[in-house]
Amino acid sequence: MPLGSERRPRRNDRLVVGGLAAVAVLVAAGLVWSSSRLPDTYSVMGMGHAEFGGGPADPVHGGHDGHGWDGPPRQPGDRDVGELTGPRDRPADVAVELVATEDGGRYTLNGTTPGPELRVEQGDLVEVTLVNASVRDGATLHWHGVDVPNAEDGVAGVTQDAVAVGGSHTYRFVAEDAGTYWYHSHQVSHAQVRGGLFGVLVVAPRAGVAAGHDVVAAVHTYGGRPTVNGRDGLRVDAAPGDEVRLRLVNTDNEVKRAWTADVPVRVLAVDGRDVHEPGPVTDAAVTLAAGGRVDLGFAVPADGTAVRVEAGGVAVVAGPPGAADPSASDPPADTVDLLRYGTPAPLGFDPADAGRSFEYRIGRRFGLVDGVPGRYWTINGRMFPDVPMFVVRDGDVVRLRIENSGADNHPMHLHGHHAVVLSRDGEPATGSPWIVDSLDVGRGETYEIAFVADNPGIWLDHCHDLPHAADGLVAHLAYAGVYTPFRIGGPGANEPE
Ligand code: C2O
Ligand code: CU
Repeated sequence: MPLGSERRPRRNDRLVVGGLAAVAVLVAAGLVWSSSRLPDTYSVMGMGHAEFGGGPADPVHGGHDGHGWDGPPRQPGDRDVGELTGPRDRPADVAVELVATEDGGRYTLNGTTPGPELRVEQGDLVEVTLVNASVRDGATLHWHGVDVPNAEDGVAGVTQDAVAVGGSHTYRFVAEDAGTYWYHSHQVSHAQVRGGLFGVLVVAPRAGVAAGHDVVAAVHTYGGRPTVNGRDGLRVDAAPGDEVRLRLVNTDNEVKRAWTADVPVRVLAVDGRDVHEPGPVTDAAVTLAAGGRVDLGFAVPADGTAVRVEAGGVAVVAGPPGAADPSASDPPADTVDLLRYGTPAPLGFDPADAGRSFEYRIGRRFGLVDGVPGRYWTINGRMFPDVPMFVVRDGDVVRLRIENSGADNHPMHLHGHHAVVLSRDGEPATGSPWIVDSLDVGRGETYEIAFVADNPGIWLDHCHDLPHAADGLVAHLAYAGVYTPFRIGGPGANEPE
């Protein structure tokens, strides 16, 4: 159109143009809305997009792109997660039945919350049968921090169907690694864990536990009330000079600090892995990631006084019966930096050999998830369900860089594996190998971790601030050649987060 001959739209045209534009915006919004809708049922293998971290691209794991919500079809030779079980024939060394109940959002196992403390020995074949008496949404048991075979991992819709009321499911695994762990439902976990469907699992070393007191302290907040082992406080009767191993378990969604002003402590273990040559700590707190565990060691003073350990708003007091409770102490300004604590020891693998390097960049922005607008988490710039599927092969050495650019901390939990921390914000680890399954990644922090992919399966790698996971802060680690027939939603109404 020649310049100057442009016809000014008349008023009616403008209305029509405006109307068409509005329709176009609505149609576009409608398309965005409907493309954000999740189907009623889908496979996690059909979610998001595959990343290969510089390793071989395995065509079997294409994610959503080009495959739709069922994911890539099963290939000949693929292993079903259902085959990746613990021993089926060997008799159990420990057999437990845990009966789950629900009463208006409150949950119990065998009538208590926390559920029974399970104590087994390293090497034991543990058999636990979950019976769902009345949990309406169904339930599962996930063995948090225990690197079990994939079929025993207890994730609804990924490794099994949620157990419906009246049903049961038996888990069998060998407790290979000594340490402090916990178990919890991984069906609607943000509600069921908060409501009490969890317990502690201790695997005692084959060599036997050290002389002294070996005490579990699971810190959990029920409806705003902080508790330890379900009570307001914990008292341990211990004679002067006795050694105490205090196994702190953070079953809440928030990071906690633990400390004592009374005696030096040692951080004996983190996430079920011993610290190498832990030195005495005074005037510093220890960080307890959500889902994480820290074993503290200390001696009861010879003078007959007691020790008071503060953790997440509750106290554990250890001392002779009759000794006065020490008064509460203020939180120390300093925190034990596990990047520099203890002394180095061989890792058993070389992170420099990594054949795959992945990024897990956590951000947040406005958008729609399942048609609902909100501020949602992003992973590598994309929003749920377009989350990464980190693809590995059995035996790969894997590096993962976790970057948190948001205003919240994120306790990142990788199922089925333990990873060693290599660096934080570029500062290399120089202390004991710091081995984690639950790593608190603070605001603005970047961690590099590494692990050996030695446990084939489809594994979650998610934030253990469980409402964050329910809002989409979930990715998966998938081994090439492993296939899951389970589905989110569907007849099992599976809803892992
Ligand atoms: Cu403690 Cu995915 O869980
Ligand atoms: Cu988070």
